[in-house]
Amino acid sequence: MRIFNFSAGPAVLPTKVLEQVRDELLDWQGTGMSVMEVSHRGKDFTSVIETAEADLRTLMGIPSNYKVLFLQGGATQQFAQIPMNLLDGRSADYIVTGSWSKKAYKEAQRFGAVRLAGSSEADSFTRVPSADELKLDPQAAYLHICTNETIHGVEMFDLPTAPAGVPLVADMSSHILSRPMDVPRYGLIYAGAQKNIGPAGLVIVIVREDLLGKASAITPSVMDYATMAENGSMLNTPPTFGIYLAGLIFKDLLAQGGLEAVEQTNIAKAQLVYDAIASSGGFYRNPVQEAFRSRMNVPFTLANPALDAAFLAEAAERQLSGLKGHKSVGGMRASIYNAMSLDGVRALVDLMQDFAARKA
Ligand SMILES: Cc1ncc(COP(=O)(O)O)c(C=O)c1O
Repeated sequence: MRIFNFSAGPAVLPTKVLEQVRDELLDWQGTGMSVMEVSHRGKDFTSVIETAEADLRTLMGIPSNYKVLFLQGGATQQFAQIPMNLLDGRSADYIVTGSWSKKAYKEAQRFGAVRLAGSSEADSFTRVPSADELKLDPQAAYLHICTNETIHGVEMFDLPTAPAGVPLVADMSSHILSRPMDVPRYGLIYAGAQKNIGPAGLVIVIVREDLLGKASAITPSVMDYATMAENGSMLNTPPTFGIYLAGLIFKDLLAQGGLEAVEQTNIAKAQLVYDAIASSGGFYRNPVQEAFRSRMNVPFTLANPALDAAFLAEAAERQLSGLKGHKSVGGMRASIYNAMSLDGVRALVDLMQDFAARKA
C-alpha cells in the first residue's frame, strides 16, 4: 500500500514510474540485466542519458548554448563547486532568503571574498528582500539565489535583476520542474534530484557555455564543469540509476502536458493548503508573506504547539507521513512536490479541518 508522503526530500515519486522501474528491474529492455548493471559507456545506457537530456531540454526550454550536466555530490557539493568554477579570482554576491542560501553563502566564503547582497534573516526568512534593499556589486562574478527555500517555504516568483554582465546562479533544488522557468535569465541552475527529479545521488547543473573554463587551478577534474561537459558527464562513472529514473520522470511530465500543465496542478494543490490555513481562524499559521509563499513546501504551526504530537499521530493514522516541520522552524511542513497527488493534498486538508474543528 502507498501512503501519502509529505517529506521534504527524499520525497514522493510517481507510483506509475516506480511500477515501471519494478517491472523492468530484472530484465531491462531485453538485456537480461537491470539498468544498474549495464555499462555506462554501452549504447543502451548512452541512449538513456541522451534521451534524458533531450527531454529535460524540451521540458525546460533549455537553449543550445547551455550544457546539461548529470553530476553527483548533491546540491551541497554545488555550494563549493560553484565558487570553484565561477569565482575566477573575483567576488560574488549572495542573497540569503533561508537556511539553504545561507549555507551556500557560508560555504562560498571558503573560496574567496563573497558578499552578502541582501538578507531577510532579520525577518526570520519570511520574505524575499525587495530590489531597493539589495546592494549588488556590478563587478561580481555571479549573483547567487535560492529560488525556493525548502525549510522556510519561501519561493521567488520575481527574480532580482542582476547588474549587466553578472550571471544569476540559482539553487532550484526544491521547485525545479514545478513550473516553467525562464532559463535564459540564468547563468547557472542547479538542483539536487531527490524532490522533483528522482532519487538522491544525482544533481543536475544547467550552465551557460561562456561560464565554462574559468575553474581555479586546484579544482578536481570531476568538479570542473568544463571537463565534465567535454566528457558528456562521463569523465567517470555517472549515477546511472538516478539518470535512468530521472529520464522516466521527464517522460512522465511531458506526457502530463509539460510544465505549464504541471504548474496548474501545483497552483491548485498549494491553494488548498493555504486556504485551509487561512480559514482556520488562527488555529494554523504560515508566517511567510503572501507574495513569497512556496507552492512546494508549506510550513505551518499550530497556535498551540502542545497539540503537535496529536496532529502527527492522527496524520499517521490516516496514512499521511513526513509532516513534522524542520527543527529550526518547528510545527509542520507539507512538501507537496509534483508527485504528490491532489487526493493526497485533499486528505491533508481534511485532517487539518477535522482536527481544528475538534481541538479549537
Ligand atoms: C534548496 C536546497 N538546497 C540544497 C539542498 C541540499 O541538498 P543535498 O542534500 O542534495 O546536498 C537542499 C536539501 O534539501 C535544498 O532543499
